[in-house]
Amino acid sequence: MPAKIISGRDISTTMRAELAEEVAAMKADTGVVPGLATVLVGADAASEMYVGMKNKAASTMGLNSRQITLPADTPEAELLGVVEGLNADPEIHGILVQLPLPDHIDEARIIEAIDPAKDVDGFHPISAGRLMTGSGAFFSPCTPAGVVEMLLRSGHDPSGQHVVVVGRSNIVGQPLANLLLRKAPGGNATVTVCHSRTRDLAAVTRTADILVVAIGRPEMITADHVAPGTVVIDVGTHRVDDPDSERGYRVCGDVLFDEVSEVASAISPSPGGVGPMTITMLLANTVESARSAG
Ligand code: GUN
Repeated sequence: MPAKIISGRDISTTMRAELAEEVAAMKADTGVVPGLATVLVGADAASEMYVGMKNKAASTMGLNSRQITLPADTPEAELLGVVEGLNADPEIHGILVQLPLPDHIDEARIIEAIDPAKDVDGFHPISAGRLMTGSGAFFSPCTPAGVVEMLLRSGHDPSGQHVVVVGRSNIVGQPLANLLLRKAPGGNATVTVCHSRTRDLAAVTRTADILVVAIGRPEMITADHVAPGTVVIDVGTHRVDDPDSERGYRVCGDVLFDEVSEVASAISPSPGGVGPMTITMLLANTVESARSAG
């Protein structure tokens, strides 16, 4: 039987409606309007598109959204000055510096300059450390938080389940493993993290109750990697050449959807899966930041 679809697009629509209500109530009760600042350095087409989508989603939901676009040759010191200005700005509750940054800028130095209380991307080492230790307030990185929210809202609580995460990046695999391990809602899972050096990957992924794939390789996970009944979340998004398509390309994930959806019990598609959730969690973090500040 083909798998049930876990639609990040539908879950996002529901969450954004909930958040819009919260924003309207906050405005009416306290006069506070959550503010998100995005900083884009240079003119990379993909980054411009992602930042544009984040700002559009923020303003549609009633947030104050401010985009700061700087030339590619902006000195690091000037970018640090922009971040410090945003840290001190009471109208801004969330700061996102779009990555990657040009080579002459030290990304770690810029991320560490963001006030952790406004780190709605969850990339600051203090945010990562608090996620690991479970102490103090922090914002979860948006993509892993989106994966957990998709599991919970589709009725697949990871508690007690064996979750296999394929991919160990700083922005998805590792923080996701930590979120799933926490003694907190959305956590309490048994977690295995696989990566490029894992021996016999398919033997490990077949032991999963829930399989999350964030390896960054188009359609790498096939039906051979998935035991019948597994819940599969695909974090990947890729454009691959497709001469049969009018556009000359198609969008796919890290999972070979047609094959795996015949074996899995539930699966998230790509596009329409984790992608929209990442932006929704950024908005949720910004609203939460405004609530804490107000
Ligand atoms: N570049 C690609 N994805 C992201 C993201 O989620 N946040 C930031 N800041 N940069 C990115």
